[in-house]
Amino acid sequence: MIDIHCHILHGVDDGAKDLEESVAMARIAYEDGIRDIIATPHFNELFLITADIVERKLEELQAELDRRRVAIRLHPGNEFRLENKAFIEAHLKQGDYRHLGRKKSHLLMEQRWTDYEADSPEIVERLLDAGVRPVLAHPERHFFFREDPALLQRLIELGIWTQVSADSLIGVNGPEAQQFGRWLIEAGLAHTLATDAHNVNRKPNLSAGMAVFEEIAGTEARAALEARMNSIV
Ligand SMILES: [Fe+2]
Repeated sequence: MIDIHCHILHGVDDGAKDLEESVAMARIAYEDGIRDIIATPHFNELFLITADIVERKLEELQAELDRRRVAIRLHPGNEFRLENKAFIEAHLKQGDYRHLGRKKSHLLMEQRWTDYEADSPEIVERLLDAGVRPVLAHPERHFFFREDPALLQRLIELGIWTQVSADSLIGVNGPEAQQFGRWLIEAGLAHTLATDAHNVNRKPNLSAGMAVFEEIAGTEARAALEARMNSIV
């Protein structure tokens, strides 16, 4: 399996605190059945982890995993937050963030926690026109999507993929996120799953989410889900 959203790079954001924790997370991921991890440090106003930092940290961790025989392949990424219009405009122009994987065909995009970014449809269309499909991080965790699913459905109609978090599906993010996450699967609107792991407690646990997905949607849908996720790198 591939985890497309994981804060495994050490000492950059609120993810792994040091190299040891990164290695420990990689080991947990391996035990969980994960073989590929897209490292997605935050790209927001608090943690602006730019492409050059991602590449440097990724290289360092991959070398350490290889040395310690942890058979995980790392891929570059970022979790790009739609902070505000000026932030979005400046960074989309500069391109100082990392897409998901080296094909640059997908971008992990996150909404603010406070309110919905009204320009989201325009941003999505602009990225799609440029050949980049936005993957929306954990919509089930945002109250405005739960209160008004039409906002999310509009973005899906435009062409975004959703990324539902494994933690949400097993109830770690509360009953509302769990219920909405399950509904997205039932409605065929969960395009990818990921762990959004931050450390060895908030750990890589993709298999638990996959089991919930399969129980709701069936084995064929799970195979299609995995194929879709694998196509990103
Ligand atoms: Fe995240």
